[in-house]
Amino acid sequence: MKKLMLAVMTVTLVAGTVLAESNNIPLIGSKAPSVKAQSTDGKITFPDDFGTSWKILFSHPADFTPVCTSELLELAYLQPAFNKLGVKVAVISTDNVAQHNMWKAHLEEINYKNRGKINIQFPLMEDPDGVLSRQYGMLHEPTSTNRDIRGVFIIDDKNVVRAINFYPVQVGRNMEEVVRLVEALQSTDRMFVYTPANWEQGDDYIVPYFPYTKAEVASNPEIKDQYYQVSDRLWFKKANQTEFVQNNDK
Ligand code: BEZ
Repeated sequence: MKKLMLAVMTVTLVAGTVLAESNNIPLIGSKAPSVKAQSTDGKITFPDDFGTSWKILFSHPADFTPVCTSELLELAYLQPAFNKLGVKVAVISTDNVAQHNMWKAHLEEINYKNRGKINIQFPLMEDPDGVLSRQYGMLHEPTSTNRDIRGVFIIDDKNVVRAINFYPVQVGRNMEEVVRLVEALQSTDRMFVYTPANWEQGDDYIVPYFPYTKAEVASNPEIKDQYYQVSDRLWFKKANQTEFVQNNDK
């Protein structure tokens, strides 16, 4: 009997350790874990099935709850912005796919903020045992052991995690901020620049280096017109309005 209890305790301890260890958050710069799930669009492997698009993995605590309802409706409302940025969205929670299908149908009947009915164009992935959620560190155990926290993972075209945020159950996320974050990341990649606090598309960029050499100025004096200095180590590059307009017209 003692031996049996010892064996049970050992198995429980090892299983507990494995679960705790596997509930790690993939850090910025790391490869996004590949996970398979049934979804409202059938079986999918995330992020692999979304190819070379940018991706967002968006977790929520529970279907048919008020804050989550408002979040998914705002997310669906911004679908054109995600399309323009080449971003594919996938939603995940520990509800099952039958529940997701019912909730999706319900969401598509709601006239939120007088916008009329909106189609949900992204898949809702099921994760009833929390296996996928643990791979993305979305089960924050002091809050809940079986319901995801509000998580957002922004993943680039090479499936590298580029930004993460977690919000508490009580506070709905700002979807405009999710779009702004993708815009900022894509701009910094394209322009080799950084973005200042509160940056929005069309604003000037920060250059984290001295922007030109004497030789560059000698051969191209106009280069100076592209930059301005605000203080000792605070240089800005003027946003190229032509590029901004072209990107938004895509
Ligand atoms: C909500 O999204 O409103 C919610 C989620 C989990 C528990 C309670 C409320």
